[in-house]
Amino acid sequence: MQAWKDYQLKNKDRFLNELLELLRIPSVSARSEHKPDMIACAEAVKQRLLEAGVDKAEIHPTAGHPIVYAEKIVDPSKPTVLVYGHYDVQPADPLELWNSGPFDPKIVDGKIFARGSCDDKGQFYMHVKALETLIQTNTLQNNIKFCIEGEEEVGSPNLATYVKANTNLLKADCVLISDTALISLDTPSLDIGLRGLSYIEVEVTGPNRDLHSGVYGGAVANPITILAKMIASLHDENNHITIPGFYADVLESSAEERTLMAEAPFNEAEYKDDLGVVELWGETGYSTNERTGIRPTLELNGIWGGYTGEGAKTVLPSKAFAKISCRLVPNQNSNKIADLLIGHLHAIAPPFVKVKATLHHGGEPYLTPMDSNAYKAAAKAIEATFGKAPVPVRGGGSIPICSLFEQELKCKVVLMGFGLDSDNLHSPNEKFDIANFYKGIETIPYFHKYFEG
Ligand code: BES
Ligand code: MN
Ligand code: MN
Repeated sequence: MQAWKDYQLKNKDRFLNELLELLRIPSVSARSEHKPDMIACAEAVKQRLLEAGVDKAEIHPTAGHPIVYAEKIVDPSKPTVLVYGHYDVQPADPLELWNSGPFDPKIVDGKIFARGSCDDKGQFYMHVKALETLIQTNTLQNNIKFCIEGEEEVGSPNLATYVKANTNLLKADCVLISDTALISLDTPSLDIGLRGLSYIEVEVTGPNRDLHSGVYGGAVANPITILAKMIASLHDENNHITIPGFYADVLESSAEERTLMAEAPFNEAEYKDDLGVVELWGETGYSTNERTGIRPTLELNGIWGGYTGEGAKTVLPSKAFAKISCRLVPNQNSNKIADLLIGHLHAIAPPFVKVKATLHHGGEPYLTPMDSNAYKAAAKAIEATFGKAPVPVRGGGSIPICSLFEQELKCKVVLMGFGLDSDNLHSPNEKFDIANFYKGIETIPYFHKYFEG
């Protein structure tokens, strides 16, 4: 559509500057000292939505950080698209590894460097600017609702309650989310699924207090050693997870899907080079794409205990800790896997230690059927602006609310992300290519044009 192109070209610098402004607000949901920033960010998002032309935009308080809700209803008999995104970001540390301030966005080589640039401020903001484009060019045919939350990065503890209490308000014919990646601007892709998550923390206690490692060392089991052995036993020599029953509910991908996935271009040398590793690692019998897409995993997210300060201290510690998470695939269930994992840790603990394991957040895996109207509209939109059909891929990350949206709103979720896997999400120097930002703004209006409910 020429009118869209003209409007966006004329306003592209402003679109970018507005995003930079949003990125200056340190909306870190995990840290209580950022509570005022969370409120400021929600307020800014609401204002931007109003400026873009929604009928109403509201801040809905929750037990945690507020949700921004907005809507533009053109005709209640027309299909409604619910756009979901999140204005909260991950903590920026370790700060010393950033080349510029995480909340002082800098543009280098056509890339915006800032925490949240890709995950997810830059991506949900594409939808605000796409809506503005549709309104300003008098071409909006669908109703559009926005639900932009502030707790995605801490596991959306209050969103489920909110969605359940507001199914009428949020009612839609599909949910549209840009919070994932595509392969590249040359090879567009759409995620047809995301993994779920089970996250636990384990505490292993040996002696009832820290001991002198010379006086007691050799006579009492060191909980760090024991925990390390327990953890090491969770994968076998084929890198399969050893927890009994862990794979019981895994829906094996069809040969057809595996063939389609194998068509996605993958350069192993570049992949290794980018990560600075000499060899890749993973479950025997699966390709790298399969290992991160269709297979469940178990990762250590943190491990600590004993003395970690400056210098040396000869201590035999009383306790050791670890944070462990599993990525899940259909039809695994987050609570069931957490129970299996916790039960297994108790079962394998030797009598020298006591184990205490607690659950953090979790979320269910999600699949978007390729024959759904929402997927088809997204594929057509991609084709319109990239000149080629998207490759269907499975995303390795998690957006736990997807399965809940489907269950409560009885509609499909389509994952039309414009980031790149190499955007350093949750890492230092997170970035978003300006070209991807504009490509998203260019493509989203076509989704609304093609989605017919
Ligand atoms: N946007 C990501 C999820 C994502 C990233 C999906 C890349 C696919 C590709 C999201 O903000 C996120 O980080 N989710 C968390 C889950 C949450 C429960 C903390 C995740 O995947 O670790
Ligand atoms: Mn995200
Ligand atoms: Mn994230």
